[in-house]
Amino acid sequence: MRKVLILDTTLRDGEQAPGYSMNQSEKVQMAKQLDRLGVDIIEAGLPVSSNEDYRATKAIAAAVQNAAVTAISRCVKADIQRTWEAIRKARHPRLHLFIATSEIHMEHKLNMTEEQVFETAAECVAYAKSLCDDVEFSAEDATRSDRAFLLRLFNRAIQEGATTVNIADTVGYATPTEMHELVSYLKSNLCDPSVKFSVHVHNDLGMGVANTLASIHAGADQVECTVNGIGERAGNVALEEIVMALHTRRDYYQCETNIDTKQIYRTCKLLTTMNGVGLAPNKPIVGVNAFAHESGIHQHGVLMSPQTYEIMKPEDIGIYRNQRVVLGKHSGKHAFADRIAELGYSMSEEAIVAAFERFKRLAERKKEITDKDMEALIGAGALAIRETYSLKSFVINSGPMISATAVVRLVRDGQEYEHVARGEGPIDASFKAIDRIVKMQAKLENWTMQAVTEGEDALGEAVCKITCNGHQVVGRGLSSDIVEASIRSYINAINKAVALEEQDQLLQEQEN
Ligand code: KIV
Ligand code: ZN
Repeated sequence: MRKVLILDTTLRDGEQAPGYSMNQSEKVQMAKQLDRLGVDIIEAGLPVSSNEDYRATKAIAAAVQNAAVTAISRCVKADIQRTWEAIRKARHPRLHLFIATSEIHMEHKLNMTEEQVFETAAECVAYAKSLCDDVEFSAEDATRSDRAFLLRLFNRAIQEGATTVNIADTVGYATPTEMHELVSYLKSNLCDPSVKFSVHVHNDLGMGVANTLASIHAGADQVECTVNGIGERAGNVALEEIVMALHTRRDYYQCETNIDTKQIYRTCKLLTTMNGVGLAPNKPIVGVNAFAHESGIHQHGVLMSPQTYEIMKPEDIGIYRNQRVVLGKHSGKHAFADRIAELGYSMSEEAIVAAFERFKRLAERKKEITDKDMEALIGAGALAIRETYSLKSFVINSGPMISATAVVRLVRDGQEYEHVARGEGPIDASFKAIDRIVKMQAKLENWTMQAVTEGEDALGEAVCKITCNGHQVVGRGLSSDIVEASIRSYINAINKAVALEEQDQLLQEQEN
């Protein structure tokens, strides 16, 4: 069966969208999960955009074991040189260059003629090839560009050493039929048929998946996508949707990918945990309703035979139907670690120890710990960070006739600190009490709460986003008590902000 390569650009095109920024350690953690997922190429960043991005790209290049690691650069020699520095230590480095090719972009953005774009691209591909064997060349806004020019440019890029050529539907403008025609035309006229043909689409008109699949049908060898479809404006095409479409309709597309589909759910979950942006319940593949059957007729059908209304199995993407009781208060760390492995998660010893602490706390209150509880506990670990501050206790006094008061006690370096504050409600009051203890200028941007497990002792997950000393961080807290979950999320965010500040100081010292 024909193989379609998956280039994941969550950490570059996805991350640059507002609300999705990640810090270096989160990016490395995400890159490792993408590697486990089986993506062929990880696009790690745009290293010339900032020193932070450069360092994060470098760290990803060093951490990834199997996938190729690429980073993108404008067709500017100094940028290519710096981009190469960031990825050169990867096991399989790839340099990715792009230049705009549509009249609109060339005239209004680049202020260049077609011939200037042509010569610049040729020169830069040749330069990139002198540094790295694997070179991808992308035409930005290709779907609004002149076809004959695109073909001439791609053939020249190939002569200069490009190993992959990519068309970008940068503004999500194309239709599936147009994509099919464009890919067929370009691919069949390339001067070297062994060069990989790639597509990169955005979802402005909601046609991202259809456009990508039409391109695959027309012969595209590589597709570029992001986890959960995050990205500028309406986002990029979602990796999980493309992969599952190819998997489910193998009969039609006759293609396969290297993705381990059982890693899809936890990859998507890791990302939502990190950026604190939830998914629509009806999001294909990974939304909470994606496998839920509400209507009686459907439920009856599924009970008779799942095939009646299910074209995919939740297990295919790593969701386990069994809400079986796995562990309880008396379970030990080994049983806990075994269950984590059975659920398909790979965690460091340190992360297991931290998750086990959370498990013990939960098991004190909740008799039965289900797989869903386990996933919530593991997810909380995704944002685990050194606990500079930890929660010792809190007391809330609140009601309709009084203003809420919170007394919060935190521990730092073995010493206890307590403060009291009033607020608009119990959560506002407790956050203010924490602010008084930690004495940091934290601004709460966003706070959400949702039940992540079922039943009367359901676990509530609070996610808060704060800005602190120029860093935007997401904190997450889990508890069957919603005020406690909120307090824990705020402390988690504060601890992350403290860690980032320490990291900033360290880097500054190194630079001086
Ligand atoms: O959308 C786009 O045009 C891109 C390219 C630079 C590949 O992300
Ligand atoms: Zn893009």
